[in-house]
Amino acid sequence: MKLTDKQLENFRESGFVMIPNVFSREEVALMQGELPRLFAENRAENYREKQSREVRSAFALHLRSDIYRRLVKHPRLIGPALQLSNEEIYIMQTKVNVKAAFSGEVWQWHQDFSTHKEEDGVPRPDALNIHVFIDEVNEFNGPLTFIPGSHRRGPLNSALDTETTSYPLWTLDQDTITKLIADGGIVSAKGPPGSLLIFGDTLVHGSSINMSPWRRTIFSLITNPISNAQTTNKRPEWIHHQDTSPITCLDDNCLIDPSNDEGPSHTIETDSIQSVETAGNSP
Ligand code: SIN
Ligand code: MN
Repeated sequence: MKLTDKQLENFRESGFVMIPNVFSREEVALMQGELPRLFAENRAENYREKQSREVRSAFALHLRSDIYRRLVKHPRLIGPALQLSNEEIYIMQTKVNVKAAFSGEVWQWHQDFSTHKEEDGVPRPDALNIHVFIDEVNEFNGPLTFIPGSHRRGPLNSALDTETTSYPLWTLDQDTITKLIADGGIVSAKGPPGSLLIFGDTLVHGSSINMSPWRRTIFSLITNPISNAQTTNKRPEWIHHQDTSPITCLDDNCLIDPSNDEGPSHTIETDSIQSVETAGNSP
């Protein structure tokens, strides 16, 4: 799949592009179908909310599930990512972010690049965050909120917040956010299951709590140009992958028909996993 000229322009101007109904109901059902088994695993890659203990983020899904191993090579994700990156890319991070009904917590205002720079020594803000909505994302269940055009400010000063939520995150201060919103406004990314959303590493974003009765599940693949690979290894492998092999695409029908897939999934040995306390931050 390729982005149209209009979609490319939206990405350049606003910092993100959103396309509804990119994946079918059947494909989304396959993605959702894997999650109860994955969430039931007691391992550090399942990062839980402090209060409710519900899964907040489940990491390294492409190493834990054949469906997600194929999804990260899907041409409807990787075609646009290659087009926007203009060079070979590797898988930096995969996860599902869930906001459980009634208890899903906030993601404070941030740029993903702050974490990529501070924690991983990524040189340039060229990574892409590629989302697939597994549940409907609506006004009430904690959609991502963007400040359009904020990516054009480049990397902004951030500070490590270890207090306000269940995990530490490099965040932006309220004065900065107030000024950015005065200039760019604020929008939320809503859509049906199967929607595709792509945003860049310096777009300012966050999301509020889910006080609705509707779960909000979003798959996220972060790709990075191989020439921009991390220069430090502070975070565990499963939160920032160190294998910089170029991503190659499978067939468009690969989720439904795996017959052209090259083989079984890899699995992470549980004894190599670090504890959640030392795991670091999500983006
Ligand atoms: C969210 O899932 O609401 C936030 C994800 C992110 O900050 O990248
Ligand atoms: Mn983020």
